Amino acid sequence: MKKIAHRGISAQAPENTRAAFKKMVALNVEWLETDIDMTSDGELILIHDDKVDRVSNGSGSVNDMTLIDLQKLDFGRWFSDEYANERIVTLKWLIDFINHYHFNVNFELKTALKSDKQNAYLTSVCQALRLVSSKVKIIVSSFDITLLKKFHVLMPDVQIGVLIEGKLPDNIVAIAKNIGAVYVHPDVDYLTKDQTKKLIDNHLQVNVWTVNDMIVAEKLEKWRVEAIFTDFPEVKAI
Ligand code: G3P
Ligand code: CA
Repeated sequence: MKKIAHRGISAQAPENTRAAFKKMVALNVEWLETDIDMTSDGELILIHDDKVDRVSNGSGSVNDMTLIDLQKLDFGRWFSDEYANERIVTLKWLIDFINHYHFNVNFELKTALKSDKQNAYLTSVCQALRLVSSKVKIIVSSFDITLLKKFHVLMPDVQIGVLIEGKLPDNIVAIAKNIGAVYVHPDVDYLTKDQTKKLIDNHLQVNVWTVNDMIVAEKLEKWRVEAIFTDFPEVKAI
């Protein structure tokens, strides 16, 4: 079972920062998960929350701020003083980084953008992902099925995963197959053994989020889950 570093090595360094990504090198972690959002001036940046408040010394909505606004903020000190002055990471920076170190990446498409910005967002994401080295494996996922379907039409060669929060819908196989998904990404708190078997029997691979408990990870491995997203990918027992 693969272990995917959730927002980088986010138990040891502030999530979605250069520090959290660079720790993957030293720890030999092969898969990264990160979140792509867009600034008001159309730049793609990596941040999980819709607002900067939790993970920086600023406040406000990511989509209403320019890249220069974001670059003024400190994205590390909230985690610890050791990481003061971590700056927002652009998708372009990460692509140069993964092309150099050959990490594989699950990119999550964020869902808070206003509908009139979504086409520009998808176009920019596709332009950027075309620059990823062929030595790097990528998966693109989203909780927004419509957005994910549009992405898949634009880049059919990139494998996609349907993210589900809460209980899996009864028709999850049809939902995933209808948009050409290879993966389903269920919420660990709701996934059952029977659902996992049904997905696998229908040739869908299962990547489960977010698993930080070793006993749960061992159980999922027995269920033949393909991968877990974890804040502790370096822990051998997980
Ligand atoms: O992609 C797996 C996981 O990252 C989804 O949840 O809220 O951490 O983006 P979240
Ligand atoms: Ca995510």
